[in-house]
Amino acid sequence: MRELRVSTKSRAYSVYVGTALLARLPELLKQHNIQTNQKLFLVTDSHVAPLYSENIVEPLRNAGFRVDMSVVPAGESSKSLEVLDRLYADAIQAGLDRSSVVLAFGGGVVGDLAGFLAASFMRGIPFVQLPTTLLAHDSSIGGKVGINHKLGKNYMGAFHQPLFVLFDVNILTTLPERELTAGFAEVIKHALIWDSNFVSWLEKNNMALRNRDLPILEEAIYRGCKVKISVVSDDETESGIRAILNYGHTIGHALESVSSYKRYTHGEAIAIGMVGAAMLSVEILSAPAQLVEDTELLLRKFSLPTRIQDQWTEDSLLQLMKRDKKAKHGIYTFILSKELGRVEVVHDIPEEKIRKVLHQLKEVSR
Ligand SMILES: NC(=O)c1ccc[n+]([C@@H]2O[C@H](COP(=O)([O-])OP(=O)(O)OC[C@H]3O[C@@H](n4cnc5c(N)ncnc54)[C@H](O)[C@@H]3O)[C@@H](O)[C@H]2O)c1
Ligand SMILES: [Zn+2]
Repeated sequence: MRELRVSTKSRAYSVYVGTALLARLPELLKQHNIQTNQKLFLVTDSHVAPLYSENIVEPLRNAGFRVDMSVVPAGESSKSLEVLDRLYADAIQAGLDRSSVVLAFGGGVVGDLAGFLAASFMRGIPFVQLPTTLLAHDSSIGGKVGINHKLGKNYMGAFHQPLFVLFDVNILTTLPERELTAGFAEVIKHALIWDSNFVSWLEKNNMALRNRDLPILEEAIYRGCKVKISVVSDDETESGIRAILNYGHTIGHALESVSSYKRYTHGEAIAIGMVGAAMLSVEILSAPAQLVEDTELLLRKFSLPTRIQDQWTEDSLLQLMKRDKKAKHGIYTFILSKELGRVEVVHDIPEEKIRKVLHQLKEVSR
């Protein structure tokens, strides 16, 4: 088991990454001063529950903990007020109090939803992140929790840091292929924004990673978490450097939104977005054209898309980018890169440059 430390202004906590870690949850809770008289409230989804809930509940009960469980439907639609309301009801009926602990056991959906439950229930109770998707190596760190509104994604939320994060890599063996691939996009993003050695390492290990070689996956998660931690430790509430985590996300979010979140997984959308960001970097920062080629090559090694294959108009995408709630200081702000492993925030990007890039993204690549 490997341990990383996150230290933000509001609290410091550990991220544990390793194999066969779920069985160690009772011991880790006790190490974090959670006593057996504190109720545990496990939130998970309808895919994860039948596969793993026993693996988690049994050791906890054997160790003397009282555990109640609530299972939400798998999928993004559970990040809603309706599902949150049901969780509040379950939590009240289970008799949770201020000393109770929420266990968020699932992908980014469960992490965001159960994290927001913990942030708001009785003005905030502790919670533990138990991520079960590769993407969740990203979402479980940093304390951003929340739900969606019918009118848009992630409109209600809070910053609530977990007690600790425990990533049991074994759990990825059952993750559907497309979800694994989507997770690689965020791993690649962490390498591209921060660490050129990590970029080369991913190039070299792509086959082992795609074949779910567990020690190699563990290393990728460890390195990805390390980048996320470096960024959020400096900037807990996203006033500055944390924005670089949005590399590829401006175009990515527009693609997700224009296709009503059905055509692309989040990872696929940001993969295309990262190619777009590299193209824009060539336009705006005079980055070498090689940056685009290298980015595409890496993404393709992980079977991620690099081009827009549908006929969305540039106008419809630009319209959505303008509405992106991160737009600040002028209309378009992008995270751009001069070389693999380094990025910067660039404001006031002229619309015609973005239009050009969106057009290029529709061309078939070599
Ligand atoms: N808070 C943050 O900082 C942050 C960052 C990035 C993304 N997010 C959020 O994360 C969400 C996406 O997360 P996600 O991609 O993990 O999606 P997800 O939670 O919906 O999980 C993807 C699918 O895999 C299934 N699944 C999960 N673990 C499994 C396992 N081990 N075996 C088999 N099936 C499994 C789930 O049931 C689901 O069907 C989005 O809502 C996004 O907004 C949050
Ligand atoms: Zn993302």
